[in-house]
Parts: sequence; structure tokens; C-alpha cells
Amino acid sequence: MSVHNPDIKRVTTHTIQELKNKGEKISALTAYDYSMARAVDAAGVEVILVGDSASNVMAGHETTLPITLDQMIYHASSVVRAVKRALVVVDLPFGSYQGNSAEALRSAIRIMKESGAHAIKLEGGQEIRESIVRILSAGVPVMGHLGLTPQSIYKFGTYAVRAREEAEAAKLMTDAQMLEEIGCFGVVLEKIPAALTKQVSQALQIPTIGIGAGPDADGQILVVHDMLGINNEFKPRFLRQYADLHSVMKQAITNYVDDVKSRDFPNEKEAY
Ligand code: KIV
Repeated sequence: MSVHNPDIKRVTTHTIQELKNKGEKISALTAYDYSMARAVDAAGVEVILVGDSASNVMAGHETTLPITLDQMIYHASSVVRAVKRALVVVDLPFGSYQGNSAEALRSAIRIMKESGAHAIKLEGGQEIRESIVRILSAGVPVMGHLGLTPQSIYKFGTYAVRAREEAEAAKLMTDAQMLEEIGCFGVVLEKIPAALTKQVSQALQIPTIGIGAGPDADGQILVVHDMLGINNEFKPRFLRQYADLHSVMKQAITNYVDDVKSRDFPNEKEAY
């Protein structure tokens, strides 16, 4: 049985703020293509993130760094064409906003104009404040992303839990408050201790969306290919796998190959 709220006709940034205000958890998933986005939207997920994780799960890269702005716009346009209800948020890819705020604004505007998405997300705190302010001043809703920020993987050197140390936790809290202060509508918290997620979520008015950040974020997000088991190469502790679609797909395709080889497919009814 689905528990999604059928009264919500179209999810906006205001809707997810209302969900936090009334204590209802926010569901979010990634999607990168039309068919997947249709399923995710129809199931009642409130926020669909066209994540730069497309670089990993769609293109097979080791990191999120190689994906380009043009490729993100291609994925985002496909998702937008499918979605009737969810809020569509798109990642600004690595190299499209860190350089200077004018470039950040240009990148955000390209995403909004060329894909029809509803908001953008970018990674980082104080270091990219100027870029965020400039994007916000153009009327583009911005979601922040703190904790494990995969675009900085070569700085971190590992995908381990972030902000275990007091200094890093304090910076994360300061960054989160800054993101709220300048006008971000939400913030993703990735792979940080559950206790810190609780503190940040209580300190902020805007919603937090957690991934590997424990139960006290205002919402949860997973990479759809991971939670459906399409990608069976990635099984971190925080991931709950709801299906084993890699095995289902492989078995179905094996059956097809057998049927073709044995001349069982197509049969009379499947021919004209
Ligand atoms: O790119 C992505 O999928 C993300 C989520 C993990 C939050 O940023």
C-alpha cells in the first residue's frame, strides 16, 4: 500500500517546507531517464534528484567528476518530460560552478532553461557562498549538499563517514546555517553521524534530506539504481535494497536468448 499524500498535486519547494513543518518525512530518489522517472513519480516520491551520480550509474565512471553540464541537461530534460508531480532538482556538475559566481549563474540558468527542471543542487558551504547567492538572486531555487560531497573525493581520499571530528562537525553546522540564511530551500546531508544530522535538522527551519545520515533527517534520499538492486556492485551499510533487479533482468534476458536460440520466440501469435 502506498502512503504518499494524494492531496499534493504538484510538489514545490513550499510543499517540502510544509512537510517539515508538520513533521511528515520527505521521500526523495534519483532518476536520470524518462522511464525510471515515470515510475518514481507515479510511486509518490516528492523530490526527484537528477544527480551527478548519473556519472557512476549511467555512464560507468568511477567518480562523479567526468559528467558534463550538457550531459546533465540531457538527463534532466528526459526526467522532466516524465514527471507530473514531483519536484525535479538537478545537480550542477563538477567544474560548472566552483570557478566563479558568473559561471555558476550561467550553468544554473542553462539547466533551468534547457531542461525545465525546478531547482538546482550544488556541493559545499562557505567556499561557494558567492555562487549560491548569485544563483538565488536570479530566482533559481537552490538545495545545498554537505558532509560527504563526492565532487571533492580526491580531497577526502575516501568515501568514509564525514564530520566525525568536532571541528568538521562544527563547520558543517555553520555551513548549514549559512545555507539557510542566504535562502537555500533545503540541504542534503550525506554520510555523517546520525547524532549530527539530528542537531542540524533541529537547528534548521529548512528541510534536511539525508543519505547515510540516520533517521533524523527531515527526508531520505537514495540512488534509485542502488535501492532497486540494478547496480549490484554497491552495498554500503546505509543502503536498503528493495529489489534485486539485476538478477531479475539477467534471468529475463537469459530466457530471451534461450527462446531465440531454440526458435521458440517469436511464435505464431507474435508474428503478423
Ligand atoms: O548525485 C547524487 O545522486 C546525489 C545524492 C547521493 C544525494 O547527490
